[in-house]
Amino acid sequence: MANVVIVGGQWGDEGKGKVVDLLCPSFRHVVRFNGGNNAGHTVKFADRHFALHLIPSGILHASCRCLIGPAVVVDPLALLGEIEALEAQGVAVRDRLLLSPRAHLVLPGHRALDVARESSRGAGKIGTTGRGIGPAYESRAARTGVRLGLVRDPQRLREAFAEASRALELAVRRHEGAAVPEADETEAAMSAALTLAPMVGDVSQALAGAVGRGEPIMFEGAQGTLLDLDHGTYPFVTSSNVLAGFAAPACGLPARAVDGVLAVLKAYTTRVGAGPFPTELTDELGERIRRRGNEFGTTTGRPRRTGWFDAVAARAAVRWNGIDAVALTLLDVLDDLPEIPIATAYAGAGSPVTEFPDDVVELARMQPRYEVMPGWRASTAGITEYDELPALARRYVERLEALLGVPVALISTGPRREETIVRPIAPLAAWIPQLP
Ligand code: GDP
Ligand code: IMO
Ligand code: MG
Repeated sequence: MANVVIVGGQWGDEGKGKVVDLLCPSFRHVVRFNGGNNAGHTVKFADRHFALHLIPSGILHASCRCLIGPAVVVDPLALLGEIEALEAQGVAVRDRLLLSPRAHLVLPGHRALDVARESSRGAGKIGTTGRGIGPAYESRAARTGVRLGLVRDPQRLREAFAEASRALELAVRRHEGAAVPEADETEAAMSAALTLAPMVGDVSQALAGAVGRGEPIMFEGAQGTLLDLDHGTYPFVTSSNVLAGFAAPACGLPARAVDGVLAVLKAYTTRVGAGPFPTELTDELGERIRRRGNEFGTTTGRPRRTGWFDAVAARAAVRWNGIDAVALTLLDVLDDLPEIPIATAYAGAGSPVTEFPDDVVELARMQPRYEVMPGWRASTAGITEYDELPALARRYVERLEALLGVPVALISTGPRREETIVRPIAPLAAWIPQLP
């Protein structure tokens, strides 16, 4: 058994929730290592439907222990709401969830500041999820944040809440017309945080114990590679590190604790929020993909921008993350298309550009150079065997494998757990001897 990181290979919403849920039966521990409730991970099986934001998707498997690591930012009201919603759906949470005391809290003032800034940016908006994620990470870096561990000392928690809330209120008031949180909202957040106290414990130590006992750990990533704070399309990124290499250190484990990286990529590309997107389709075809793929945000319900698969960006993701294998999702969405272009390079001012640019202005100028694959024009929905895919669909998958230089070990042909092709190939078969 191996410790595996699941990471998004594009701009998020690749189907990480589905893939994590599918593979969970082979893992004893599932830990979220980045982001906050800006994430929205959908899990569907049989007639059940779950949308998870902070709690790892492993929570739906009674055999899994779930952890939230130190580098995650936790909105206590959102987390408590999520716990209660799962409990209402019959899922036991509190005795299987461990929260790092080092994780920073997202306060109502962080949320208000996120919203206020976005509205004053006007056309220059980042298009954040409005969940206060950026401001919460700023407080952490500025060393003025409130950490979850303070719930063990309510008096200190109260003082820290009051001080941080005052500073945030001043920052919010600099934005004309912005709403500052009401006192009862802050009170409710503090009381939610205190409710979480019994679940707070040393995540690093728990995971080190698991490593010692040889119990497999899955690191569940949020967001996607191109939203990584350092390597993504800055400033149109999130405020945390998304790449697989951060997973173990972010949880207080050595980087060598990770045995493999499985990246989830859509068979095309989507993006929510602003920022350059070279292969974007702004026409009727893009709308068709959005409708067929039900491309509306799990967290905010915003329509996702859609476009073709971008192999330039994906190759960068392979290198930055050290991707060993790919889970290719939403293949069925392309079923009725006569032609499916793949961007293999960009046309720049001079010779073709094959490296993903570091600068957004330069990226926005890039014109994709497409290789056009023939569509298979047959239904792949719900197919579970690779050999049953239409020959042209296999050709598409194999062309992506060649362009990325890594195997496609999983293919998702529908939103439900059951609608998946699992290929018993290396390295997946070595990580998980009992593949689902
Ligand atoms: P995550 O953030 O990476 O976990 O992805 P989201 O859950 O936000 O978005 C993925 C969306 O695609 C969800 O609505 C899933 O139910 C859906 N989905 C996942 N895999 C497939 C697939 O293979 N086919 C189709 N049609 N939908 C899928
Ligand atoms: P999952 O885990 C897609 C995007 C936002 C915005 C930018 C910054 O479901 O894949 P933030 O609120 O983080 O400050 O917003 O990042 N974004 C996501 N897009 N999926 C996500 O998570 C995202 N989390 C943040 O839309 O463009
Ligand atoms: Mg999502």
